[in-house]
Amino acid sequence: MPPHALHGVRLVPLRPARTDTDRLLVRLVARRYSLEQGSEEAGLAAARAVLDRQGDALRCLAVEHDGVVVGRVWLAPSNGDLGVFDVDLPGGGETAGATAGPGVRAALVAQAVEERKHSVLLSSSPDDAGACSVPDPAYGDEVAARQMRLGLADEPSYGSRGGGVPDVGVRPMTEEGYAAWHADELDAFAAELMGSGIDPDAAAEESRRQHETLLPEGLDTPDQHFFTGYVDGVEVGTLWIGTERPMAFVYDLVVHAEPRRRGYGAALMVAGARWARERGSGTIGLNVFGHNEGARRLYEQLGWSTTEEHWRVPVEGDGTA
Ligand SMILES: CC(C)(COP(=O)(O)OP(=O)(O)OC[C@H]1O[C@@H](n2cnc3c(N)ncnc32)[C@H](O)[C@@H]1OP(=O)(O)O)[C@@H](O)C(=O)NCCC(=O)NCCS
Repeated sequence: MPPHALHGVRLVPLRPARTDTDRLLVRLVARRYSLEQGSEEAGLAAARAVLDRQGDALRCLAVEHDGVVVGRVWLAPSNGDLGVFDVDLPGGGETAGATAGPGVRAALVAQAVEERKHSVLLSSSPDDAGACSVPDPAYGDEVAARQMRLGLADEPSYGSRGGGVPDVGVRPMTEEGYAAWHADELDAFAAELMGSGIDPDAAAEESRRQHETLLPEGLDTPDQHFFTGYVDGVEVGTLWIGTERPMAFVYDLVVHAEPRRRGYGAALMVAGARWARERGSGTIGLNVFGHNEGARRLYEQLGWSTTEEHWRVPVEGDGTA
């Protein structure tokens, strides 16, 4: 495959040295795995297992900018997309790495075209200036999803929302409640996937597959916990938290359509975070789709921060001309 030279940037396939792989591991641990696994050591083991699973499918490319190697890009297969596992342009800010961003973007789009992919899917941490210099909303690049986290060292609070908190009783979900929730959930999650750019049939199939994998024993699946929120005896919403890893994970939050914007979503989230803290989790995480601005605002109001963004870079209208 010929290297691409766009905006002075070429991506040159590289057989990664041990130092390259070690550096990738450190970056993955910092971005995701130490939080998920509760310690650097366990995070390293988890990140290593992820790389091992990718095997030869994980490709390393050197980033050359005006003839100087300024970083690395790691690619991994991702359905019909060109999956960019990591963009490592060290230094960020004013350095050569960051100024290579637009060229890296153009070269990745060209690579996606060559490999007949629909789009480039790029994962980055919002505080990584080098990686953040690659996607460009001016060309239609969008955040498809965000990973958000809340540290549980302190008692979770209503954050900037402050007082005036509604009184929501949060109780374990009943069998009957679970059956109703599950039927709605399959459709709602498929709709979310469609909103993030996946076609309807693939979205329905992916929703079914993910739920079967995560919930083989339904309500009784070990490490999966379901709650229902009530106000004056009337159900207002539901919450699903997984504790299969040291970091607790909110898989789903729903406030029923009618009683929204009364603070019930905030109340369910705070109750869930407090429950996870009491159970011993040091962090709680979630994934929010990029189009779900309302939910993101809710989480930010409660003190959650974004640790990872998954950008979708369209292959058409790519700005390489
Ligand atoms: C997201 C959801 C749970 C919010 O529940 P809610 O009870 O309406 O949320 P709250 O009333 O506690 O909202 C708290 C704050 O979040 C933000 N917010 C919530 N929904 C919002 C929306 N649709 N648009 C903009 N901001 C919103 C606001 O800042 C709000 O404070 P305000 O009402 O004082 O302005 C609810 O809309 C829902 O169930 N949506 C469908 C499922 C879903 O998207 N779940 C989240 C998956 S990650």
